Amino acid sequence: MEEPIYLDHNATTPVDRRVLEKMLPYFCEVYGNAASIDHIHGNKAKQAVDEARQTIAKLLGCRKESEIVFTSGATEANNLALIGAFRKFRDKGRHIISSIIEHPAVLDTLNYLKCEGAEITLVPVDACGVIDLEALEAAITKETILISVMFANNEIGTIQPIKEIGALAKSKSILFHTDAAQAAGHEKINVYDMDIDLLSFSAHKFCGPKGIGGLFVRSYSPLIKLSPISFGGGHEKGMRSGTLNVPGIVGMAEALSLANKEMKAENNRLMEVASLICQRIQQTFPDIKLNGHPQKRLSHNLNLTIPGVEAKALIHLLKNKLSFSAGSACSTVKVEPSHVLKSIGITDEEAFQTIRLGLGQSTLDAQRIADALIQGILRIKG
Ligand SMILES: Cc1ncc(COP(=O)(O)O)c(C=O)c1O
Repeated sequence: MEEPIYLDHNATTPVDRRVLEKMLPYFCEVYGNAASIDHIHGNKAKQAVDEARQTIAKLLGCRKESEIVFTSGATEANNLALIGAFRKFRDKGRHIISSIIEHPAVLDTLNYLKCEGAEITLVPVDACGVIDLEALEAAITKETILISVMFANNEIGTIQPIKEIGALAKSKSILFHTDAAQAAGHEKINVYDMDIDLLSFSAHKFCGPKGIGGLFVRSYSPLIKLSPISFGGGHEKGMRSGTLNVPGIVGMAEALSLANKEMKAENNRLMEVASLICQRIQQTFPDIKLNGHPQKRLSHNLNLTIPGVEAKALIHLLKNKLSFSAGSACSTVKVEPSHVLKSIGITDEEAFQTIRLGLGQSTLDAQRIADALIQGILRIKG
């Protein structure tokens, strides 16, 4: 049987073979601890980490490579940014502003911070999922120390006005963090041009390995030092202790380089594939709705509400042809409608009729994908 077409690239991506090739020597040949700089084995590992850090820093528009702190992924980077900044700066104020459509890695962390005395305001978004800038500005108080707004949404693909948010935060001397897990490697990022102070990213979203990511921590106007959230050997300028994942770091740098190099062509290609899929299924079912912003969106994301069709039923029916996900967040005990879909005005019923297609390098055949979806929808609708 033919493999189903993988359409869940917003969840994770396959490792690019060129990335794997780069990583391989760092398992069995260059295996030293990058912190063991007294000997050649350790030095070789450190050199690879230094080069990777330089590459990543340059690609994100950092001023110094030391502004990159390696973590296990975007979840940890978000935790470090939010908890680390709150603990460091809570004497100046206890108020943090974020948006209602953030990933749980931000929302749950903010919720946790309430136990440490943080006050949280979540700003709404419009029907396309774009943050309400006026509401954001109105929410700022003398106590506000941090604004955290995601670069691009993982469910509906909407890209936020990051430069404007950065400028606003800067004008009020408030730190600005952005969770760029879905944007790094897919959208152009320049942390200084965009007035970003803290930026989270994760390799497995741009064809790098899982379990490695990072946080940009600005070191010029202002110089930011975060309180650590885990303790140990004082690695990463004391902000994130733990032996560095050398193959992962090398792989992440290669993956980000390739993604940035191929970004323009790949985004154009994926936009075409996405709109072909959308057009074809909307020709047959004109009531299918594309969620998110029509233009300011990730080119590899399609979030579709299909009236009268349960997303779970469609996923199950097509499981041998396509691998994609539902637009509702699942927990092991109960299935709840997605908070993102609800916040753009979608009803609970519609949320359960919503699917997310995450396109990627291997997504080539729009016709085959659209045909499979059309057949599945026809079968369910009877
Ligand atoms: C927007 C966003 N933030 C954070 C994460 C968590 O990233 P990681 O898997 O690297 O911990 C994800 C992954 O789904 C995401 O999409």
